[in-house]
Amino acid sequence: MLNEKSYKKIEQDLNLYYSNNNKDIWRNNFHIEMPFGLVNDPNGLSYFNDKFHIFYQWNPFGCEHKTKHWGLVTTTDFVNFTKPQIILKPEDWFDKNGCYSGCGLVKDDELKLYYTGNVRSASGERESYQCVAAYNKNGIVEKQGVIIEKQPEGYTAHFRDPYIFIENKIYYMVLGVQSNDLKGKVLIYKSEDAMKWELLGELKTDMKNFGYMWECPNLVKINDEKYGFIFSPQGLESMEFKYQNIFQSGYVIGSLDLKELKLDNHSEFKELDMGFDFYAPQVFNHDNQNLMFGWIGLPDKDFEYPTFEHGWMYSLTIPRVLEYKNNVLYQKPFEKLKNLRQSQILNINDLSCSDYKLNLKSRCAEIILNLGISETNIVQVKFKFKDEYILITYDKKSQICIIDRSNMCLGGKGIRKFKLETGEELKLHMFIDNSVMEIYYQDGLEVTTLMYFPKDDKLEIEIKSDDKIQINELCAWNLRSVKYE
Ligand code: FRU
Repeated sequence: MLNEKSYKKIEQDLNLYYSNNNKDIWRNNFHIEMPFGLVNDPNGLSYFNDKFHIFYQWNPFGCEHKTKHWGLVTTTDFVNFTKPQIILKPEDWFDKNGCYSGCGLVKDDELKLYYTGNVRSASGERESYQCVAAYNKNGIVEKQGVIIEKQPEGYTAHFRDPYIFIENKIYYMVLGVQSNDLKGKVLIYKSEDAMKWELLGELKTDMKNFGYMWECPNLVKINDEKYGFIFSPQGLESMEFKYQNIFQSGYVIGSLDLKELKLDNHSEFKELDMGFDFYAPQVFNHDNQNLMFGWIGLPDKDFEYPTFEHGWMYSLTIPRVLEYKNNVLYQKPFEKLKNLRQSQILNINDLSCSDYKLNLKSRCAEIILNLGISETNIVQVKFKFKDEYILITYDKKSQICIIDRSNMCLGGKGIRKFKLETGEELKLHMFIDNSVMEIYYQDGLEVTTLMYFPKDDKLEIEIKSDDKIQINELCAWNLRSVKYE
């Protein structure tokens, strides 16, 4: 199936898609997604050759989790993107069943792409090879083969998702792995040239019994003393206010001791996103900022997303800057996203009312809402699409926020419930796209990402309270569609 003819067809289909405007109503305007096939993890995120390079897992041939390629779009301004291109194809013995997730490293004028080659052996067993490819400034990619052959003793073949960081001019690679007693772990390797890798061992943390597999690890320098260990553990039990999705993504922050291979004095695991649809984030550093993209979707939940019928699935989040404060990572929409603002449609300050309704002609908007709240207020924000709706309820007294998606006909339903600490203001910064909503609370202390599939095009947002509402600020912009050329 993966022959020259099938790739020619992909190219033609891409051109066709971008030259006409017949898009279904759930097609997002500014979230990165593919015209067809299935997108998952962001990969190889880098700033290279004066452009942001955003690679991602992509099955261009269908909406199933198979034949994973690396796709690529590049941009400078987050409005104009290059058309998606296939960069890594699963066509060699070491990656024939999937070019799985990995990272990018700018080195000697090239962008090195590290990834996991997924292979099913003749007897049907999983084999994992860590591989590298070189991508140059002319866009030519050359696979350079395997750098780490299979997993070391003591671990299963769930061994993947290389991520590189540099400390004192030495390269370190972390890899997600499962120990033989079925526990999630990460292994650390070391290299002087980023080609020959030596195993150092397991990273020691206080999370001894924390799921059966850790996917997509990132070790990210936060400041001179602290590292953030961001990863996606599988197998955590659901609790009232956390771990409500099938799998989680979050972080701990501590001091990295590379001699002892230990993350010292680390904080408790905190989820990065309390919404319904978020997984496998990746972080890269640009201009001294840690920028993160996540996958809007989750493994093993494909049946919940009706775009399956339309031949496309999932998106990437907008880029989020991670800011460290009070031992927490605040997530802020990346500054360049302001380029998406087309026209300001609202600018309200200091309004006191009993109920406020905002009608959006186009669903694609950025909205900043700051509400003054009293100690006992219960506030609701309702997203209404004719007879369907999504409801956010915040109870100031108990500091509980609930997002309820049960009144939508299509797509995943249910609620997500989390603790949200507020002072005198409840602050929401919302990015609403045609089938994705990302909401940043209290300057990015918490974020919820969700997909929604309304039958009606129009959106009315209603803000209500058990008492009077005090709108300290309400600003809204129409957001433009990004272009792929
Ligand atoms: C996470 C993940 C990674 C793997 C990739 C395969 O979503 O399972 O661990 O490399 O997706 O597409």
